[in-house]
Amino acid sequence: MQQELLTEEDNLVSIIKNKGKKFLKIELKIGINYGERLVKIGHNNPSVLYIGIEIKKDNITQALYQVQEKKMDNILLINGEAFSILKKIKLNHFISQVHLYFPTPKKSAFPSLYSKGLEYHQRLVNKSFITELERLLQDGGIFRFATDHEEYYFYTIELFNLENWIAIDWSPLNIELKKNHLVGSFCEKKFVDEIDGATTYHFRVIKL
Ligand SMILES: C[S@@+](CC[C@H](N)C(=O)[O-])C[C@H]1O[C@@H](n2cnc3c(N)ncnc32)[C@H](O)[C@@H]1O
Repeated sequence: MQQELLTEEDNLVSIIKNKGKKFLKIELKIGINYGERLVKIGHNNPSVLYIGIEIKKDNITQALYQVQEKKMDNILLINGEAFSILKKIKLNHFISQVHLYFPTPKKSAFPSLYSKGLEYHQRLVNKSFITELERLLQDGGIFRFATDHEEYYFYTIELFNLENWIAIDWSPLNIELKKNHLVGSFCEKKFVDEIDGATTYHFRVIKL
């Protein structure tokens, strides 16, 4: 069946439940931009269902074209604000891995949305976001985070309560990566390839 763009208005619980039955694992990728990396990862891991969330419709529409063109069955694309979507997914402990790479550090990046009076957090990652992660991830599930923004990194890492999480070494994804790249995303390419001595702050934590 032709893939479609989902929104939080769809019955995400039933769609994910039905689709998820066919796959060994379910992973979530937040802020997928044009989806180039998601499509690569999806292609290399056909037994995993990937859920990609992206706030910008033009961007995620590009991802949809690729998914449709390649007739990929293991990617679900949801257009909207990630925290709001996560709250709508009333399924617990079913995700094995969450990827968040180069998240937008400032809400001023989306003035048109905020000016509509919608309630967005200053940043996607905050205490409430971590609570949602704890609900959605299976025990032993992993959260992967990478950013070029030093302050966002330290702010984020401090939010993890070590009674519920344990930090583990970084491990590369099974996709082709250039030397010095950790995730090979659009933003990483721009950042690492264009800035001399660029540091990508990153961590992995397991939910206990
Ligand atoms: C800086 S880009 C990084 C994109 C990609 N992860 C990468 O590493 O190249 C941040 C992406 O997240 C999206 N984004 C930012 N805040 C979001 C939110 N609250 N919900 C969903 N998507 C969001 C932006 O539209 C953008 O595509």
